[in-house]
Amino acid sequence: MDHFTYKNSALFAEEVAITEIAKAVGTPFYCYSTATLVRHFRVFKEAFADLNPLICYAVKANSTLGILKTLANEGSGADVVSAGEIHASLAAGIMPEKIVFSGVGKTHDEMVYALSKDIFQFNVESESELLLLSDAAHTLNKIASIALRVNPDIAPDTHAKISTGQKESKFGVPIKDAIALYAKAAKLPGIKVQGVSVHIGSQLTNLAPFASAFTRIVKLVKELRKNGHEITTLDLGGGLGIPYGNQEAPPLPVAYAEIVKSATKGINCQLIFEPGRLLVGNAGILVTKVIYVKHSDERIFVIVDAGMNDLVRPALYDAYHDIIPVHVNPDAPTELVDIVGPVCETGDIFATGRLLKLPKEGDLLAFRTAGAYGASMASTYNARPLIAEIMVNGSNYATLRHRQTYDELIHRDKLPDWL
Ligand code: LLP
Repeated sequence: MDHFTYKNSALFAEEVAITEIAKAVGTPFYCYSTATLVRHFRVFKEAFADLNPLICYAVKANSTLGILKTLANEGSGADVVSAGEIHASLAAGIMPEKIVFSGVGKTHDEMVYALSKDIFQFNVESESELLLLSDAAHTLNKIASIALRVNPDIAPDTHAKISTGQKESKFGVPIKDAIALYAKAAKLPGIKVQGVSVHIGSQLTNLAPFASAFTRIVKLVKELRKNGHEITTLDLGGGLGIPYGNQEAPPLPVAYAEIVKSATKGINCQLIFEPGRLLVGNAGILVTKVIYVKHSDERIFVIVDAGMNDLVRPALYDAYHDIIPVHVNPDAPTELVDIVGPVCETGDIFATGRLLKLPKEGDLLAFRTAGAYGASMASTYNARPLIAEIMVNGSNYATLRHRQTYDELIHRDKLPDWL
């Protein structure tokens, strides 16, 4: 459920008309709904109420400070994959003792930064990383609390580019090697073994792979305890899918919670979750204006002012996003159209052969479910400024990020003295 609804044929975010924002800030822009974001966090939290888990929002889904701060106010922690994400999380008021650091390629500098901030847990993904972390922590006279991110070799039944828990994937330590690596970790200076972590993929719409992965991990926790390790945290990652409007029906958080509860029964660990998309996906839309409607021999192209640089998911993963009018015009003919951006790439396509009330030039369209992996994956390709990000809260709205200016686009550039 979200708070983007029509009132008298006009699309609103909570109590604010999208056209009003468009008039004020121009297009394209991302628009987030506070009520939706908060609701999603609470629904997830309530599904696990009796277990009191640590919910570490996966910052990569959307790292805009206003989003992070809204979640921080709800008590969220952060799952981060870079020093930059740690920096943003701390700036938004997320406490270091609620930060877990994942990622296959943590650099020494990033480790030093994370250690200096006393984050809660490093999810270590290889032996080399473990040794480097030990060295960094020992040198700084710090203790790095770690979980090994284990790769359980489970097919997650999702898009190949967002699958992470199979043996051909770069992520995690193969589960068959975990016991030996934990034994090694326990002897290293600067390292405290505290947990196990797993994340098998994103946009999972089937619970069975989660159940298989969690069962394997819980078995590992028991074996590790037998070997004398004190395992107090169990990080089950993120990945629960959401509806994008093309008929998929992902399980609700309560159903996911049932799977978790039955797999982890009696294990007595602090559970950690890393949801990203589930919290922020449906809390955001991308609003764009139709620049041209171009009739070619075979097709009708609706050319909009947002491009693949603003929302790359359709180009990168063939992802489906519902595209709806900001003003419904019941008299417009329904046509099969291709909705494309202005970027000079053939792949700059948002939808092919989509049935739509034919918009007119100047009309506004909204891409739904754009809150996750939208703004955070944007680039300035084609020297297109990063777009504005707006947050609505009831009948108020505010700019979380202004549209980049042309000067900001080039402000990092320097000319060498020979030019
Ligand atoms: N934890 C770890 C270790 C992850 O790698 C990820 C996502 C998450 C948590 C959060 O997963 P979520 O709950 O959001 O599914 N750009 C892609 C998604 C990439 C996901 C990468 N890892 C997309 O737009 O579909």
